[in-house]
Amino acid sequence: MKFFVDTADIAEIRDLAATGLLDGVTTNPSLVAKNGGDFFEVVKEICALVSGPVSAEVTAIEVDAMVAEGRKLAEIAPNITVKVPLTWDGLKACRSLAQGGIKVNVTLCFSSAQALLAAKAGATFVSPFVGRLDDIGQNGMALIGEICTIYRNYPETITTQVLVASIRHPLHVIEAAKLGAHVATIPPKILRLLVAHPLTDKGLAAFLADWEKTGQAILAR
Ligand code: E4P
Repeated sequence: MKFFVDTADIAEIRDLAATGLLDGVTTNPSLVAKNGGDFFEVVKEICALVSGPVSAEVTAIEVDAMVAEGRKLAEIAPNITVKVPLTWDGLKACRSLAQGGIKVNVTLCFSSAQALLAAKAGATFVSPFVGRLDDIGQNGMALIGEICTIYRNYPETITTQVLVASIRHPLHVIEAAKLGAHVATIPPKILRLLVAHPLTDKGLAAFLADWEKTGQAILAR
């Protein structure tokens, strides 16, 4: 499973990229607004920090304007993926951008029917939002299972990757991996939580205390 980080915070991205475990980045207009700064400069800097796909979202809602914005965003760097919303205009823009060789992430997906349309429109990624579905009492992870099953039924024609978005906790990541989703885009705080386990901390403390008693040092040899 690929791990993308879901943020426009350069410092966070730099820090997480240094782990070598980061496969890409997703941003959206809300994350860009939260982070501040010039959108183009921020995205350019992110693209230089990671070699994998960096999603930057269009803000137009009409197809021709979306395509124009998408083309402009794609000029920022070769690893840009243009994000468009899951509307009829967004699907048409996806098709047009994809035909022009630009990778597209179709975002704001909340149903399997929408995910099928995104695949047919030539999306590289579809982003189903699990957390926002859970928030309204629906089962976000059930949607991931459904989309993965549907896409797997058409291996010859569907190459769209399921990018699990709106992740709220580590279990979302684990469940998505069990279902075979291709990518999870994870907020920095949740990404850091993935490593945490109290028994790891306790075990390490015990090993170090016992090692201390031997009076030895590996690098002293
Ligand atoms: C990423 O592509 C999505 O825009 C993001 O995961 C949405 O997350 P949220 O529901 O926490 O805003």
